[in-house]
Amino acid sequence: MKIKKIIIETVGSCNLKCLMCPTTHYGPKFKGIMPDKIFNKCLAYIKKETMAILTGWGEPLLDKKLEQRIYSISKLGATVYIATNATLLTKERVKGLLDAGLKGLSISLDAGSKEIYGKIRGGDFDTVINNIKKLSLEREKVNPDFWIDMSFVTMKPNLEDLPNFLYLASNLGVNSVSVTPKYLSFSEMDFKNYYIEPDLILEKLNEVQKSLNLQNLEVRTYALEYFPKDDCLAEAVSTVFISFKGDVSACCNLGHPAPRFDVKNKTLLEPYTIYGNLDDKDLEEIWESSDFLHLRRNLKKGTVPFPCRGCALAPRKNG
Ligand SMILES: C[S@@+](CC[C@H](N)C(=O)[O-])C[C@H]1O[C@@H](n2cnc3c(N)ncnc32)[C@H](O)[C@@H]1O
Ligand code: SF4
Ligand code: SF4
Repeated sequence: MKIKKIIIETVGSCNLKCLMCPTTHYGPKFKGIMPDKIFNKCLAYIKKETMAILTGWGEPLLDKKLEQRIYSISKLGATVYIATNATLLTKERVKGLLDAGLKGLSISLDAGSKEIYGKIRGGDFDTVINNIKKLSLEREKVNPDFWIDMSFVTMKPNLEDLPNFLYLASNLGVNSVSVTPKYLSFSEMDFKNYYIEPDLILEKLNEVQKSLNLQNLEVRTYALEYFPKDDCLAEAVSTVFISFKGDVSACCNLGHPAPRFDVKNKTLLEPYTIYGNLDDKDLEEIWESSDFLHLRRNLKKGTVPFPCRGCALAPRKNG
């Protein structure tokens, strides 16, 4: 199986401290920007058909070379996306990203009002909304196909703000919204304070969708609906994650030293599992290593490999 998606964490630090995010709680353990040597090694594996996501557990716009890096990937014919908090999305950066060939981005908002945004993300809501408006205007001029998504990690403190969020997204003219559960909890307290069952979120979402006219808005319900799936929802069978330090793993969660609270068994796990580092090995060699192959073979069969136990995105069997 070849690598279809490559997640390159060009930045491993952040300018916000969102209450649900592992970067806020474990950030000091993995703080920095990817050196050119590592980035260039990633570049060597990108082909025309590859999808590259230049985002991990950090804020990609903190990388001053982001536009240059996007350009070096897009000129190979590959598609590039990022997820961002959009706090630093100035007019110049918008232009730079569009000119570099970025195909689209997802803006994490988790709120539809200033008050809830402040509670969850702690940044300046008005700045972010103005930045989205600037982006929306500029893409009409430069690339009308540029995709704008807005995301909402649904939790106890923001559930009631979901209608405001959907209404706002529809007014801003973004293409889609992604409504997700808080699929990663890192302590029992974190789980108790914030987690909501996907079924309850779907119920709320259906109710809101009936009362609002969201005709041109695609509503994505990633990880909310139960459906059987071999492989995990992060599609690790054909995806590789590379941290800003060059550590290679299957996904963000396995690639960082942060615990995971197993919701089903109510235990705290240490899933940290890396398969090599690009500083002293090639990606091909790491990708084909026996442990990494073993993980992917299990995922492909629909069984949950040891490092993935307790992961809400793990393969789902019928019944
Ligand atoms: C880690 S952030 C990195 C990119 C950027 N800083 C941002 O906020 O979009 C990527 C996405 O993970 C989401 N996220 C953070 N903590 C989460 C958690 N515990 N469970 C599920 N998603 C989470 C964020 O809301 C964001 O949409
Ligand atoms: S902005 Fe993104 S990376 Fe930063 S703390 Fe928030 S969710 Fe985490
Ligand atoms: S199932 Fe495993 S590889 Fe997939 S997202 Fe979860 S921890 Fe990562």
